[in-house]
Amino acid sequence: MTAKGEADYVLGTNDEEVDRLGLQHRVWRPVVTECWQRVGITHGWRMLDVGAGPGYATADLAEIVGPTGSVLGIERSARFLEAARERCRRRGLANVEFREADLMEISLGQLGLDASWCRWVASFVSSPAKLIDNIAGALRPGGFAIFHEYSDYETFRFMPIRPALESFAQEVMASWRASGGEPNIALKLPGLLTAAGLRVVEIRPQVRTVSPRDYTWQWPASFIEVNLERLRELGRVTPEWAADVLREFKAAEADAGSWFTTPTFLEIIARRE
Ligand SMILES: C[S@@+](CC[C@H](N)C(=O)[O-])C[C@H]1O[C@@H](n2cnc3c(N)ncnc32)[C@H](O)[C@@H]1O
Repeated sequence: MTAKGEADYVLGTNDEEVDRLGLQHRVWRPVVTECWQRVGITHGWRMLDVGAGPGYATADLAEIVGPTGSVLGIERSARFLEAARERCRRRGLANVEFREADLMEISLGQLGLDASWCRWVASFVSSPAKLIDNIAGALRPGGFAIFHEYSDYETFRFMPIRPALESFAQEVMASWRASGGEPNIALKLPGLLTAAGLRVVEIRPQVRTVSPRDYTWQWPASFIEVNLERLRELGRVTPEWAADVLREFKAAEADAGSWFTTPTFLEIIARRE
């Protein structure tokens, strides 16, 4: 196990985070599936899942490309990889290979793949340029690079405004920056992609405003609960501060007049020239 893959990662890799990533995947799955279909991913495609985490999208991709296609998942957390391998085993997927690797330390090389999928990873790497070079090199000419990455994390807001939840969103961004990442990394991707020899073909913003009755509300619910614990573990916040945030969230949840706007991410589709 690479201790680095577990200890250094700002969001943590425990069982609660594995479950939270599953919920997050289910919340955004319709958007993701529509994107993959628009790109044309189908039977026989050879795919790369960059920073695959516990393998939720990896398994879906493997089902879509079928036995004649394949998915290579790259992930540096051994704990996440264990969950990902188990998921694929349970779903009877024999066309997936997982590789435990740090994308900042290895070069994937020229793999001639049809497309790559990279979601919520670029915010956490020390060199987004190295990440993009790795992806670009792994694609065949004409291959697609697909990203879902945050561009405006500041839209993480509640109506009516809740001061402790406003400071929570600020603290999340600060914690990512303190660990060498950048929450709004999508703003840099078009430039980096062009420099790496890819042509950006489409960019779509993705944001929702939802009430506590909407399934998407479960996304901030799980994120706040799991991340408050992680921020305490990292020694960044006090138990009192965390209790205030949770209390305010519970009050928002109990108020039928509450609305939550998700942090905005960009769907970026680029093609290797
Ligand atoms: C927010 S999670 C997203 C996981 C997955 N892409 C998803 O959408 O569910 C970010 C993932 O990036 C991985 N990651 C971060 N830095 C990495 C690096 N340098 N090399 C490989 N994986 C990395 C983390 O271990 C984690 O699994």
